[in-house]
Amino acid sequence: MAWYSSLILCVSFILACTIFSKCDASEDNPKLHIVYMGSLPNTSYSPTSHHLSMLQQVFDENDATNSLIHSYKRSFNGFAAMLTNQQKEKLSQMEGVVSVFPNRKLQLHTTRSWDFLGLVKSVKRSRAKESDVVVGVLDTGIWPESDSFKDKGFGPIPKHWKGACSGGYNFTCNKKIIGARYYTEDKTARDAGGHGTHTASTAAGNYVPSASFYGLAQGTARGGVPLARIAAYKVCDETECSSSAIMSAFDDAIADGVNFISLSLGGSFQNPFDEDTLAIGSFHAMAKGILTVNSAGNSGPSPTSVSSVAPWMFTIAASTIDRKFIDKVVLGNGKTLTGISINSFSLNGTKALIAKKNGGSGSTTCPEQDPNACNCLDSSLVKGKIILCDETGSVDYPSGNPIGSIIHDPTKGSPAFVTPLPSLMLPSIQYQQLKSYTNSTKIPKAEILKSEIIKDISAPKVADFSSRGPNTIVPEIMKPDITGPGVDILASFSPVAPPSSITYDKRSTKYNIISGTSMSCPHITGIAAYLKSFYWDWSPAAIKSALMTSAKPLKGSKNDVGEYAYGSGHVNPISAVHPGLVYDISVDDYIQMLCNLGYDNEKVKVISGKSNACSKATHRSLVRNLNYPALAIAVNSTTSFTIKFKRTVTNVGLAKSIYKVAVTPNPKIKITVVPNTLSFKSLHEKKSFVVTVTGGKLPLQTVTSSLTWSDGIHHVRSPIVVDIL
Ligand SMILES: *[C@@H]1O[C@H](CO)[C@@H](O)[C@H](O)[C@H]1NC(C)=O
Ligand SMILES: *[C@@H]1O[C@H](CO)[C@@H](O)[C@H](O)[C@H]1NC(C)=O
Ligand SMILES: *[C@@H]1O[C@H](CO)[C@@H](O)[C@H](O)[C@H]1NC(C)=O
Ligand SMILES: *[C@@H]1O[C@H](CO)[C@@H](O)[C@H](O)[C@H]1NC(C)=O
Ligand SMILES: *[C@@H]1O[C@H](CO)[C@@H](O)[C@H](O)[C@H]1NC(C)=O
Repeated sequence: MAWYSSLILCVSFILACTIFSKCDASEDNPKLHIVYMGSLPNTSYSPTSHHLSMLQQVFDENDATNSLIHSYKRSFNGFAAMLTNQQKEKLSQMEGVVSVFPNRKLQLHTTRSWDFLGLVKSVKRSRAKESDVVVGVLDTGIWPESDSFKDKGFGPIPKHWKGACSGGYNFTCNKKIIGARYYTEDKTARDAGGHGTHTASTAAGNYVPSASFYGLAQGTARGGVPLARIAAYKVCDETECSSSAIMSAFDDAIADGVNFISLSLGGSFQNPFDEDTLAIGSFHAMAKGILTVNSAGNSGPSPTSVSSVAPWMFTIAASTIDRKFIDKVVLGNGKTLTGISINSFSLNGTKALIAKKNGGSGSTTCPEQDPNACNCLDSSLVKGKIILCDETGSVDYPSGNPIGSIIHDPTKGSPAFVTPLPSLMLPSIQYQQLKSYTNSTKIPKAEILKSEIIKDISAPKVADFSSRGPNTIVPEIMKPDITGPGVDILASFSPVAPPSSITYDKRSTKYNIISGTSMSCPHITGIAAYLKSFYWDWSPAAIKSALMTSAKPLKGSKNDVGEYAYGSGHVNPISAVHPGLVYDISVDDYIQMLCNLGYDNEKVKVISGKSNACSKATHRSLVRNLNYPALAIAVNSTTSFTIKFKRTVTNVGLAKSIYKVAVTPNPKIKITVVPNTLSFKSLHEKKSFVVTVTGGKLPLQTVTSSLTWSDGIHHVRSPIVVDIL
């Protein structure tokens, strides 16, 4: 029923077609492809004419110009074009071409949340620097008239900004939204779906007092960095995003001068970096000092469901906050049952009839229907009544015209959704009680009440839908990296989009409550930007390290490897501002990791612009020495093992300080850290250490631990995860 849970399988169709070459020549219709050519050459060079001349070599007549959809030429080199498989094959062989990807369809994946994180309204801000930060949001566009984006009190546009306001018809920027571009067919950066307005306002929206969803979740809506600027890049329509559009947006955003890229979308598979356009785009961003923050995905809780796996991306899981939406239904017999929903409607004290069946035998419109299903409703049975749905799924409201709905939700831990009419979801026991009541009486009736808010003392907990690790592409890189609020988040919305994302819902609203890693991602973007306002020169890796090493691990669900759900833990912005030590990573370090992974010189050159980058000795086993703020490895369970990780920390705390290490014991493994004390004499001094993890034959089970450097003030924690090959 939620947009985020429907995974569209275009990707697998395209892949099946190329891997098995089942597409015979008669079906070789031109399809959109991305021809990726790596970094821009240093010399004077005209990318577009080069792209056209390449296309002319594979097209018979003058079709080359028509086939070229877009040239990437500002931050990296390449183009998008309509190509047949034959043309694609020829182009792949041409000099300078790194890879040719079929265009993929990717999925889009408050107020209380900031207080919950401790980033209260009165928090110390570095006002001048914060207003220099530009957050680039690649999403469904933005609603420029939203209160979250008014520019009252904003100073001049930051000097480093080189972008443009190209939002299309009737789209004006201001000193808050300083840039807008679109890559979609509707030719406007205006947001018709609401998702982009929600994510942008969560990251960097203004303070807006008295925001609520029909009185629910009332409070001050605000982003993590309310003083920062926003640049909107519309790469998605209401439901889908295309990878060629995302490449264009990366190309522009990097050249425009954004400081962060917030990317609340993704695919559904783990792909090698050289086949992952998000990984490629974000590599170029990282090389220019721009951190890309990416949602982990909403395909959890199954293992390996996280699709964002590159180490230079910041991959964000979603967890609950202490505010929970519940809803009650009062039955004709006086009994009250409690479920969940975000139901803004009231039946005003009147009980409505409950439909005993929705279709099935005796029904003219839905005779084949299971009488307890809701995907086909017979209006003669349900009009003006409350329907009961035995299963979650799409509900056929328009044909049935019911007055309300009660839906059985056997899964625990699903978030509450905005409903298009009085509606709630009941867990199994309560739903059975409702069914026996309707069975036991001739004229069953009920009143569905408006939602209430309760305090959820179990928060924060990782949401079931949040995509999980491990990372199968590079097991040494723990993914996801961190978790933040992503359940039932209030933020600004597009007034032309239905708040329940069901078109039957004709309401127009300035704020909406949505769940997803799409919502946790901009929280972390906002916090990363908050950090940058204090440490303008920090690398993307240093900012990421500060957030990860200060995060707090959560209680995982049973039998789960917690780290695969929440990474380093729940974000803690106040501690992150004073991390003590950071694990920094340079562009060269990432390049060396690619070499160690087995990428050849040519591939690495076109990604990074460096010639003969892999001249140093490379070895697969060195990948684990990437200076990541988490330690992960996959070992062979049939043999004992000794694994050494090398790490280097940079002192960003007190000039003179002594850090001692502590390790969380785990009886299955032995961990030693040498040296176990680090004495710093100055700021930015670096110290290295080696972590040795030894173990016997492990049963088929992941083992976790952690190490923490502490000077008594700062606690710099890294999880250690040993997985089984
Ligand atoms: C490209 O130009 C920059 C500065 O203009 C220079 O430092 C760099 O070495 C050049 N790279 C190549 C591969 O020629
Ligand atoms: C521009 O868009 C806004 C918001 O939809 C609308 O209120 C306004 O009338 C539009 N103006 C024009 C000239 O179309
Ligand atoms: C309940 O009252 C509100 C406010 O008067 C009204 O808007 C709404 O339509 C009423 N609901 C029903 C089901 O009558
Ligand atoms: C309701 O009645 C139907 C038909 O008599 C029966 O199959 C079902 O088990 C009953 N459900 C409950 C919860 O009593
Ligand atoms: C694990 O080690 C054993 C013994 O050396 C070897 O036969 C097996 O192939 C290894 N398994 C993996 C997954 O590497």
